[in-house]
Amino acid sequence: MSKWYLGLSTSGHDPALALVDESGRVAFAEATERYLQDKRAWGAAPDHVGHLESALAAIGFDPAADELVVASSWARVKANLPVRVSNALLPASDGLWLRGLQAHAVEAAGASLLRLGLAAEQPEVLRFDHHECHAAAACYSAPFADGLCLVIDGEGEVGGHRAQQRDVDRAGAQRLDLVGREHLAAEGEVDAGKLLGEPP
Ligand SMILES: [Fe+2]
Repeated sequence: MSKWYLGLSTSGHDPALALVDESGRVAFAEATERYLQDKRAWGAAPDHVGHLESALAAIGFDPAADELVVASSWARVKANLPVRVSNALLPASDGLWLRGLQAHAVEAAGASLLRLGLAAEQPEVLRFDHHECHAAAACYSAPFADGLCLVIDGEGEVGGHRAQQRDVDRAGAQRLDLVGREHLAAEGEVDAGKLLGEPP
């Protein structure tokens, strides 16, 4: 029996999945060439049933014996945050639309396991801070033993803009240490037009 991790990009756009084994080895990942051939794939599930099924087959996943743990690239549903929707930077209608897409993607993460017979009920999901996911993707794929990573995203869990610095030691324990964080807007003070600005 093997344990596998299914990582899902749950932003509500640019959906993607990755499969990682217990040692941390990436067995399946996707980036620029989307399975759906839909440029941003707004509202599409990252764990699209047919796509996930073929990816699991490609890595040799055994449905009868192996375990699949689902993980999401967002810790929170932004629609649940106390933000105001405004017309700043984005039309308010766009902000509402994007907020709904993110909510659905986060809440539905892993639902395809039901369809594939890999879960009897909606699976538990490991949920990670969005900018930590950006930092992990950048640092673990970087060809350096150590370094500093600055994440500047179009949006995040809270705040119109947020920057994080991470000290990376890949030579030792493969760890990401938070060494600095700056919130340019506090939770509850931001507006959704900024919070939901389209990321780069
Ligand atoms: Fe992002």
